[in-house]
Amino acid sequence: MLDQIALRSELAAYYDLAPSTKVADTNAHLYARMSRVVSPPDWAIFAPYVAAINTLKKQRNAVILAHNYMTPEIYHGIADVVGDSLQLAIEATRVEADVIVQCGVHFMAETSKILNPSKTVLIPDMEAGCSLAESITPAGIAEMRAKYPGAPVVTYVNTTAAVKAASDICCTSSNAAQIVRGLDSDTVIMTPDKYLAQNIAKQVPEKRIVWWDGACIVHEQYSAQDLKDFREWNPDTRIIAHPECPPDVVAEADFSGSTSGIIDYVTQQRPEKAMLVTECSMASNISDALPDVDFVGPCNMCPYMKKITLEKVLWALHTMEGKVEVDPVVANKARIAVQRMIDLSAKVSG
Ligand code: 13P
Ligand code: SF4
Repeated sequence: MLDQIALRSELAAYYDLAPSTKVADTNAHLYARMSRVVSPPDWAIFAPYVAAINTLKKQRNAVILAHNYMTPEIYHGIADVVGDSLQLAIEATRVEADVIVQCGVHFMAETSKILNPSKTVLIPDMEAGCSLAESITPAGIAEMRAKYPGAPVVTYVNTTAAVKAASDICCTSSNAAQIVRGLDSDTVIMTPDKYLAQNIAKQVPEKRIVWWDGACIVHEQYSAQDLKDFREWNPDTRIIAHPECPPDVVAEADFSGSTSGIIDYVTQQRPEKAMLVTECSMASNISDALPDVDFVGPCNMCPYMKKITLEKVLWALHTMEGKVEVDPVVANKARIAVQRMIDLSAKVSG
């Protein structure tokens, strides 16, 4: 992959990408959604890319699915659909356009390809990985099955297609408890996120949950002591943590949920001050819609999610490089595990 400077100069041969207050003004309706977190000079730099991408995506008959961790210029500027992992997977099944550009990490693009195999799925940077997806292979699933014979394997969607294919059912952070509860077995294997598994074990005490030793490099950095200290200094702050955080961190929080669950909670509750114990773009993306909420406290960046930039999205649409392919045999097996999850969570939520 070319570096950012090289990408900019290659793309400048085809598109007018010079910083422009005129293009910034023409796209002021998009800027209005991020004006608290993106400065006017930065918007003058982003706007020509946003305009070029939005024109090209129509020409290519493409839709952009963007995860809640994308930066505001992607999330508000070019995305057609935004959401958490479950919402993006469901939306992928509904795409009628020819091309899906996945602004997120590789496992999300693979999930889109698995669920809608006739579409061209592009990821703007093939190296947008995930520490959880890297932590387990199909051999790890076989090891867990040998250790706990007969127990079903619930695999987090943050995994490769091959790992999904070796599993019984998938889950996301928004439906993991429902999925585990819905399984007809006293023992349940959860892979690969040990912290998600431990958090679900607390919510579903009637089951014996065993787990693989994986973790998210973003969420494992938070400590319960940091949160306790923060609450002491800022007693009126609402603390909201993603369930990929260690259980003692989640125990310190007022609410825990998927990325969209967090957005819904803050949107409905409107706390005066909120600390989102998750990736940094979450607060940025909802800041303009919630001007009465003061987002305080530290956040952590996901280095993988941050590999996706406007330059790389434009490059992907321009060259149609970055196609995500999944072996059809693997895809067919993985689809069963993902579809079971979608069907079971739809059934439980009525
Ligand atoms: P969500 O399903 O909550 O969006 O989580 C995805 C993810 O990678 C969080 O780190
Ligand atoms: Fe993976 Fe963690 Fe990044 Fe989510 S935040 S993509 S779980 S490394």
